[in-house]
Amino acid sequence: MSTTIDGLEDIVATHSRICDLDGKLGKLTYVGVDIHDLAQHSSFEETAYLLWNSVLPTQTQLDEVKEQLCASRALPPRLIDLMWLLPTTSTPMDVLRTCVSALSTFDADSHNTSHAANYQRAVHLTAVIPTIVAAWDNIRNGREPIAPLPDGDHATNLLYMLSGKMPDAYTSHGLDLALILHADHELNASTFAARVTAGTLADVYAAITSAIGALSGSLHGGANEQVIRMLLRIGDVSNAESYIHDALERKERIMGFGHRVYRTEDPRATHLRAMSEELGKRTNDTRWYEMSRIIEKYVKEHKGLNANVDFYSASVYYMMGFPIDLDTTIFACSRVAGWTAHVLEQYAHNRLIRPRAEYIGPKVTEYVPIEKRG
Ligand code: COA
Repeated sequence: MSTTIDGLEDIVATHSRICDLDGKLGKLTYVGVDIHDLAQHSSFEETAYLLWNSVLPTQTQLDEVKEQLCASRALPPRLIDLMWLLPTTSTPMDVLRTCVSALSTFDADSHNTSHAANYQRAVHLTAVIPTIVAAWDNIRNGREPIAPLPDGDHATNLLYMLSGKMPDAYTSHGLDLALILHADHELNASTFAARVTAGTLADVYAAITSAIGALSGSLHGGANEQVIRMLLRIGDVSNAESYIHDALERKERIMGFGHRVYRTEDPRATHLRAMSEELGKRTNDTRWYEMSRIIEKYVKEHKGLNANVDFYSASVYYMMGFPIDLDTTIFACSRVAGWTAHVLEQYAHNRLIRPRAEYIGPKVTEYVPIEKRG
């Protein structure tokens, strides 16, 4: 058997035409399009189309996919009934995972596993995840869910369903940018989980349910929530350096730092840092940005680690007014586009994903009858 690598670091596990990541150069592309170009010129809808179809859409194709997304936003009423039954203390990621899993039972066309049917499921799941997230925030607070907008973009619709008010253009645009930056990232843990599940020929819902479970952990998407909790604990700019000093002395992991692949600045963090600064100015509260800068400098100097995508998205989402524990679900509202693109690719070129484990347990163990075991 070949050498065992814990955590599969640098192991190339599949071919893919979706996302390329150069950790030494800090370069990220979706189907060859530079993430900085997408950040400057694209929209979440256009980016999703690119991931699903491996080509930038024409205006007509973009209009079509936007229409399809808008038309797929509503939740089955019985799923909403089910959500009312869940304990209000459930975490938003647990509820999201449960509802995506339950959605499979409402798919009247479930026997149809053609590419066209799975593509429609990709569109549907992308459209409906923000509706689940917002519906849960309302339901857990004893309010009726707000129906999704019949038109308007993914970001605006999410903000609207959470507050019942149309967001300002800056916030909508800022969230749209954050969604573009989070939409895909090669074979990250949640995408790998989705591909492993799809590789057994389980359905799209099963694959995305696996992905949501993997994203929820604090070493992956769950890090953004932990970052804002840390900033709130620090509370004031003057405490930031001593807090991080002490945390590193205690050998704690600082959430939002480090990456398995990047050895340079995470190109997504570049945009989110700028957005955090701008939002601080706009909200007349630069505390979170200033604290973040101090922490970033300290961790870089003392551990050589760079901020990753989750570090600045935390303060960005906080200043946009999102409840803290929705942070990881906002990540899912975007990454679902990448997950589903990878699931479609897996089905198209499928081979069961089944690696080996190097056995390090005892070679021979005598079977002792239960009454004779000490
Ligand atoms: N804070 C403090 N130390 C960190 C660290 C962090 N955020 N990330 C890595 N390190 C240290 C480890 O303690 C380890 O040090 P050691 O060799 O002295 O034990 C070394 O860096 C390598 O860490 P390792 O866990 O082997 O790297 P990895 O590639 O397996 O982990 C992450 C990658 C992302 C899981 C890791 O950097 C991390 O836990 N980051 C915080 C969580 C996070 O932000 N996740 C979102 C990722 S986008």
